[in-house]
Amino acid sequence: MVIAIDGPAASGKSSVARRLARKIGFDYVNSGAMYRAVTWELLREGIDPARSESVEAALARMSLDCGFSGEGEFFIRVNSELPEVELRESSVNSQVSEVSAIPAVRRLIGSRLHAVAAGRRVVMEGRDIGTAVFPETPHKFYLDATPEVRRRRRAAEGHNDSIEKRDRIDSTRRHAPLAVAPDANVIDTSHLTLEGVVEAITGILRHRGIGPA
Ligand code: DC
Repeated sequence: MVIAIDGPAASGKSSVARRLARKIGFDYVNSGAMYRAVTWELLREGIDPARSESVEAALARMSLDCGFSGEGEFFIRVNSELPEVELRESSVNSQVSEVSAIPAVRRLIGSRLHAVAAGRRVVMEGRDIGTAVFPETPHKFYLDATPEVRRRRRAAEGHNDSIEKRDRIDSTRRHAPLAVAPDANVIDTSHLTLEGVVEAITGILRHRGIGPA
């Protein structure tokens, strides 16, 4: 079973998805971190993300796995490396949207996301989880917040990347753009606390018989 949490950058997805998963006893999967891991590896190899043929050649020889540690933490391994803080580097922030627009990248990561969710109960956050990766799940949430609030949240986390630019590329790309699924529950998090958003989601799930074990 997959609970999809989609939305733009700094809409609160990661904190909400992580907290929600812990609360209802599901595993947490961060799909954005997969796109970041591929971007980080391409940059490490000196590949220009704008050259999609070079990216495709690098993907063909890239080993990319994800799974859960003994403690249940989601991990990503790319060519035997386990990048973590590196995934938030500004070079990754500035290139990840270009890399994510390449269809071969989306196919590779989409197949890994299906494999990691198989036979599990997961809360998966991203941009296209409810629209493209698991469109059949009835549990779709789209978190949003005003640009001003999102900018403030990013700054408070110590980042000053251009979320507007990323959102523009993510929303206008040809393949699986950021979009609201017609059957998604849309939650504006601008004036809600983290716990408030989690409460709103758990309330909806409780009506569907999903809750703490
Ligand atoms: O959630 P995040 O900010 O860490 O995601 C980084 C980028 O990855 C985002 O700008 C676009 C891409 N992404 C995507 O294309 N599809 C997803 N399901 C998740 C992220």
